Amino acid sequence: MVSRSSAARCYALVPCAGAGERAGAGGPKQYRAVGGRSVVWHTLAALSGVSRLAGTLVVLSAADGEFERHAGEAACWTARVGGATRAASVANGLAALRERGVRDDDWVLVHDAARCLVQPSDIERLIEACEHDAVGGLLALPVADTLKRGSPGDAERVALTLDRRNLWQAQTPQMFRLGLLGEALARAGDAVTDEASAVELLGHSPRLVRGSLENFKLTWPADFALAERLLRTRA
Ligand code: CTP
Ligand code: MG
Repeated sequence: MVSRSSAARCYALVPCAGAGERAGAGGPKQYRAVGGRSVVWHTLAALSGVSRLAGTLVVLSAADGEFERHAGEAACWTARVGGATRAASVANGLAALRERGVRDDDWVLVHDAARCLVQPSDIERLIEACEHDAVGGLLALPVADTLKRGSPGDAERVALTLDRRNLWQAQTPQMFRLGLLGEALARAGDAVTDEASAVELLGHSPRLVRGSLENFKLTWPADFALAERLLRTRA
């Protein structure tokens, strides 16, 4: 039996350096209020409910003057090393974790600041499913709806219907060992929109762990009212 003291160490890395353009609020969406607290407050509260996490690092943009006002009491490290893309913010965050003593074989759970409805139980399920895996994995949801591709000439007309079998929507956290993820992001560059796709480019197959519909990423203006309603049902 593996004792807790020899269990692999897990850390969270929270990219929180985006501009939130699609949310159209005129400021970073991670600092908008939902249910009386900022988006990132809820995110950090969920992470602080996971006892397996040995530490959390939040990646902020260099010019961020708001985080401390919105973060609340949750204990975390911050690094003002946000990049031009999410991938760059995560890669810079990995370097900041290394500076704080996190090692290549420690697990890093990358979780979007904008997914503030994640629950500690979702994160614990991911850790349990992946901590003995050779690669790691991510929370994801099997696609339920029929998928259409809009036509290049007219995005509001169907060009074709896609086969949804074996399709999943990737969520976060995404959990990989620091060494593997650092190498994957260095090779993949800035274009990847999640950690798993960088790891896939190295030829690995990350594990898909069923997530929850509630763990959606606040992206569009209407998402904030939906988040507010969901939070109300949790009180
Ligand atoms: N993020 C980041 N650094 C970037 C871009 C995004 O740390 N250069 C973070 C965001 O703060 C967010 C997460 O990555 O928590 C997911 O990104 P996304 O939902 O795309 O957020 P934004 O980039 O802020 O939004 P948009 O794409 O609509 O501008
Ligand atoms: Mg973005």
